[in-house]
Amino acid sequence: APHKLWGGRFAGGPSPILEAINRSIGVDFRLWPFDVQLSKAWAVALWNAGVLTLEESREIERGLDVVAERLKGGTQPTAADEDIHTMIDRLLHEAVGTVASKLHTGRSRNDQVATATRLWTMDACVRLDAAVRELQGVIIAQAERAQDVLMPAYTHMQRAQPVSAAHWLLSHFWPLDRDRARIAAAARGANELPLGSGAVAGSAFPVSRVLLKESLGFQGVIRNSMDAVGDRDFIAELLFAISLMGAHLSRLAEDLILYGSSEFGFVKFGDGFTTGSSMMPQKRNPDALELARGSAARFLGDLVSLLGALKGLPSGYNKDLQDDKRALFDAVDAALLVLPAVAGTLAELTLQEKRMQAALSSTMMATDLADYLVRKGATFRESHGAVGSLVRQAEERGIEMTELPLDAYKAAHPLFGDDVMDALSPVSSVQHREAVGGTGPEAVRAQLEAARQALHPA
Ligand code: ARG
Repeated sequence: APHKLWGGRFAGGPSPILEAINRSIGVDFRLWPFDVQLSKAWAVALWNAGVLTLEESREIERGLDVVAERLKGGTQPTAADEDIHTMIDRLLHEAVGTVASKLHTGRSRNDQVATATRLWTMDACVRLDAAVRELQGVIIAQAERAQDVLMPAYTHMQRAQPVSAAHWLLSHFWPLDRDRARIAAAARGANELPLGSGAVAGSAFPVSRVLLKESLGFQGVIRNSMDAVGDRDFIAELLFAISLMGAHLSRLAEDLILYGSSEFGFVKFGDGFTTGSSMMPQKRNPDALELARGSAARFLGDLVSLLGALKGLPSGYNKDLQDDKRALFDAVDAALLVLPAVAGTLAELTLQEKRMQAALSSTMMATDLADYLVRKGATFRESHGAVGSLVRQAEERGIEMTELPLDAYKAAHPLFGDDVMDALSPVSSVQHREAVGGTGPEAVRAQLEAARQALHPA
């Protein structure tokens, strides 16, 4: 007969359809190291509570080590294993016999799965943080090389003002820094112990939840057993953090895809993260970046499917919650692929300084021209109008603003002097922007230092 954790009150067996829809081991198998860990802690708690003798609890702990060895060795679930908790219970019986039947005293898969999922989530947050930091390190390394490279910054996708390429790259560093803070917050949300809550009303045996919390490394104990078995806030928090991070990665990916097109030609991709075409021999496609961009939609789907499942659930545990892990694992798995894929693409890409430089048309210095007049005593509004008329003249004549005669400048505003051409240089435009957070060379140097600090706090 298949190993089951329930069934006594049923005369007939379950329908194969029920078994198929109910079976979650294909998803939750990976929880096994955490389920083994919490089961060992539970055996000790049962001994402390006087439910198990010392020998029994030692026997169960030893059996769980055997189970872990078998699972590590590749033991696969059978068709009858409903979920990972059932499978571990079966393997424990195979290892130590009937004493295994005492382990489930006072606990339920409801507090068990909540505990294992929290442990898994905290571990996932550590892995995610490392992957985000890896990408941030690549951004910093590229930015260090790009401090003196100038390029257009865009608003509305129209050429706006010159910036250092390092400034552009670092604009993608800080969102990731905030993502790290959100991932850390999700880990703190997971860091509370449900075990000892039983199915819904608490454990009927005097287990010390403080000792359980200490031995499993949780920060606190969930104060309400009904909340403990139904709370999936920590998953929602992590899925939100990943969704927003996905949006950030997709924006970085989009910048790079666009800048890698022949029309821009600001960046050249390497071999490791691009693909060719089966038909067009000339192609080099930035697939890794496109997959990163696409994953943002997938993360959002995972978040929305979890929030949808939580909405309107009655209190306590409900089987709807079983689907939480599908969303959680899907998002974490994809994020742990996307982060290194973006990092790898960025690491092997080279900036095309000449193409960036060539895109700095003189109208992009129109703001600098207006600022020039302000420094000479004009109001900004008046300067804006005068420079606007010069932009129009250059556009009508089809020439750069640097090609307009000095007379045209003097006619547009009496405060224009012979030094006006300096104001039209991208280098001086950038040099004026030394206020904190600006693209001036000193400001960018300070920003880079702040980024290094954020990544490697002293
Ligand atoms: N596989 C279940 C889940 O992932 C474990 C909890 C099942 N509890 C229950 N009473 N059937 O949610």
